[in-house]
Amino acid sequence: MRRLRQSDWSRRMVRETHLTPNDLIWPIFVAGGQYLEEPISSMPGVNRLSIDMVGLAAKEAANLGIPCIALFPYTAPHDRSPDGREALNPDNLVCRAIAEIKARAPGVGVLCDVALDPYTTHGHDGLLENGQILNDPTLEVLVQQALVQVRAGCDIIAPSDMMDGRIGAIRSALEAGGHQNTLIMSYAAKYASAFYGPFRDAIGTKAALSGDKKTYQMDPANADEALREVELDLAEGADMVMVKPGLPYLDILTRVKQRFGAPTFAYQVSGEYAMLKGAIDRGWLDGDRVILENLMSFKRAGADGVLTYFAREAARLLG
Ligand code: PBG
Repeated sequence: MRRLRQSDWSRRMVRETHLTPNDLIWPIFVAGGQYLEEPISSMPGVNRLSIDMVGLAAKEAANLGIPCIALFPYTAPHDRSPDGREALNPDNLVCRAIAEIKARAPGVGVLCDVALDPYTTHGHDGLLENGQILNDPTLEVLVQQALVQVRAGCDIIAPSDMMDGRIGAIRSALEAGGHQNTLIMSYAAKYASAFYGPFRDAIGTKAALSGDKKTYQMDPANADEALREVELDLAEGADMVMVKPGLPYLDILTRVKQRFGAPTFAYQVSGEYAMLKGAIDRGWLDGDRVILENLMSFKRAGADGVLTYFAREAARLLG
C-alpha cells in the first residue's frame, strides 16, 4: 500500500475525496447597530455582525469562492415576545441582511433558518402553551416566516424547527405564492444536542430557554428514525437535507446519503467549533490541519457540503 503514498503527486493522483470552497456554507450572526463586530465568548473568532459588516463578509465570501451564507439573528430583547412575532417583520434583521448581501454580493446564495427561537422570550423553536410546543399552530407561523424571508430575497429556506409536516406546509405555501424556484434545505435529522450551547449564547437564547428541546429534536440514541425523518422531508418537497450536529453523527450522514442520494449537508455546529477552536488557541492542535481534516471527514462520509464557522479560514487555506 505504501507505494502509492511515496510522493505528493501520487497521493494526489489516487485521492478519493476532494474539498473545495464550493463545499462551504458560512453561518453568520447578525445584530443591530453599525460598524459593529461583537465577540461571542464561547465562540472565539466568531462575531455578531451589524448589517453593513454582513455586506463586507458577503463580498469576502464571493472573493473566496464560498457559494452560500447562512443567516442567524441576535434579536434585541425588546423585540422578543412569547409568540416570536418579530420573525414575521419584513424589516427584521434577517430581511435587511438579505438585502444587504444581495446588493453587495449578488452571486452569493443566502440561506435562512426557519424557526422561532431567535424571536421568542422562552427560546423555543415553536409556540409554547402550558409547557407544550404546539405543532400545527407553529406550522402556520413558520409558513409566514418562510414567505417573509423569500420575499426579502432569501434563496434557500432552511427549516430547523423540527415540527412535523413543516416541509410540506412550506412547500405548498411557496407554490401557492408563486415562489416555485425557492430551494428548501431541511434540517431533517436534527438531534437534541448539547453541542448547540455556544450558538444559543450567540443568538441570546441560552439564559431564556425554559426546559429543553427533546420533544421535537431527535434522541441522540436513534439512527433509523433519522432515515424516516429524511424520507418524510424529501417526500414533502425538500431539495436538500441536513444532518446536525456533524462529527458525532457521521454514521447518520453516511446512511442518509447512501439510502437517498439527495444532496446532503452536515452542520459542524457551534459546540464543535468551540471544541476545536479552544484547543487550537491553546496550541494543543494544529489549526490549519485539524480544520481541513475535519471538513474532509464530512465529505468522505458522504456530505455534499458543510455549514461551518471555519468557512472563511478553510476557504483561505484551500484558495
Ligand atoms: C435554531 C437553531 C439551532 C442551531 C441552528 N438553528 C439551535 C437549537 O436548535 O437550539 C444550532 C447551530 C449551532 O449550534 O451552531 N432552531
